[in-house]
Amino acid sequence: MKLLEERILKDGDILGDNILKVDSFLTHQVDYKLMKEIGKVFAQAYQDAGITKVVTIEASGIAPAAYVAEALDVPMIFAKKHKNITMTEGILTAEVYSFTKQVTSTVSIAGKFLSSDDKVLIIDDFLANGQAAKGLIDIINQAGAEVEGVGIVIEKSFQDGRQLLLDQGVRVTSLARIASFDNGQLNFAEADA
Ligand code: G4P
Repeated sequence: MKLLEERILKDGDILGDNILKVDSFLTHQVDYKLMKEIGKVFAQAYQDAGITKVVTIEASGIAPAAYVAEALDVPMIFAKKHKNITMTEGILTAEVYSFTKQVTSTVSIAGKFLSSDDKVLIIDDFLANGQAAKGLIDIINQAGAEVEGVGIVIEKSFQDGRQLLLDQGVRVTSLARIASFDNGQLNFAEADA
């Protein structure tokens, strides 16, 4: 997605060897016009997949996922990272290990929001090691629903996430794919949409 790649080059900051800071339009402040375009591109890529739900994980997946849901005209559900006192029954959970933070967290979705009839598109802001998406796939499978694909705004293609998901037989659609950060220079690989 050319518009996204241009925005990353204009406003993204490279931190250290492998972190891209995009807090001015995606992970903290949100550019809703860009999110709306992102929503349309994912909706077009999955227009024939019969998607009935969009699933993401809090926090930074929520903004793009909401616009994908709007474009597909289906509900969006975000997995919670902390148990809420109102989540009392029928909770589906998965353990997610973050290599970046070196912590394992339990993520959860109330089972009543997913059924075995659902065809789900997972959306997330970043794909690094793929652990968040793997946890969401686990939860969706527990509900007996089908994962039709994983849509990623920014993939770091030098990390293992894509391969992990492809090995599970899941379609991956990334709008920007970062091949490397060479001495502060960002290089893109060919994106999926
Ligand atoms: P994984 O989910 O692909 O396995 O990734 P990993 O554990 O490495 O990432 C942990 C968190 O760091 C995730 O957010 C992920 O989106 C984020 N992250 C990974 N690489 C980058 C990067 O280059 N830039 C930015 N800005 N974030 C990155 P999270 O902890 O779930 O946080 P949030 O969504 O609540 O902000």
